[in-house]
Amino acid sequence: DAQQIVKYKEQLGKIGASLVSQGMKVGLGSGSTAACVIRSLGKRWQEEGLRFEGVPSSIASAKLAESYGIELTTLGECPELDIAIDGADEVTHQGLQLIKGLGGALLREKIVRYAAKKFVIVVDERKLVDKLGEHTPVPVEVTPFGWEATMKHLEKIGASIKVRVKNDHPDFFLTDGGNMILDCDFGIIDDPVRLEKDIISIAGVIESGLFINCTDEALVAGYNGIQHLYK
Ligand code: A5P
Repeated sequence: DAQQIVKYKEQLGKIGASLVSQGMKVGLGSGSTAACVIRSLGKRWQEEGLRFEGVPSSIASAKLAESYGIELTTLGECPELDIAIDGADEVTHQGLQLIKGLGGALLREKIVRYAAKKFVIVVDERKLVDKLGEHTPVPVEVTPFGWEATMKHLEKIGASIKVRVKNDHPDFFLTDGGNMILDCDFGIIDDPVRLEKDIISIAGVIESGLFINCTDEALVAGYNGIQHLYK
């Protein structure tokens, strides 16, 4: 239930934050679970005097970190990170393939991930799947210019598409970078490597929410505590 999920996220926040030590360069993820990691890091910053260099993957995460007094930096100043810690929307048991971007931060999250030597995902057990696409469409970030044409090409490779709109609002949702999101349902994804290539090769696509062969470890909170899964 909802209360249990809140508890899982708090546990994940603590264990995620425990991966950071003094002086590290850290990519800060987005979404509600990554926010728990940022809050725990904020507490360590204030109570233990932990100091690290944090690069946020969204404006929301930057604001949250700053509210704890965490000093942030950019990939310009800090292009190589020791670790990035983030949430995900679906994670496969085998191979730790991911769908990300239900929160709309996928492009910056992917850039931050690839700046880091190590990528750790924090999720509750509802996110675990055998194959990607079981519950979640693939969010695809597209440039607003000609998005209807980009959408047609995505349909040609098998997607049923919903254009993402703002909550309770008919306006298009726009990412931190001012782009649109097309939520692309491909059904069960048997070959995520191939699909990722097909999506990315379409003009107008900026990034896809498939994170393929790039996760080192997943911390999964569930009924039996925290499970560590490795790629
Ligand atoms: C943000 O764009 C996403 O990739 C998030 O990492 C993802 O939606 C997970 O969010 P929750 O932890 O809130 O489920």
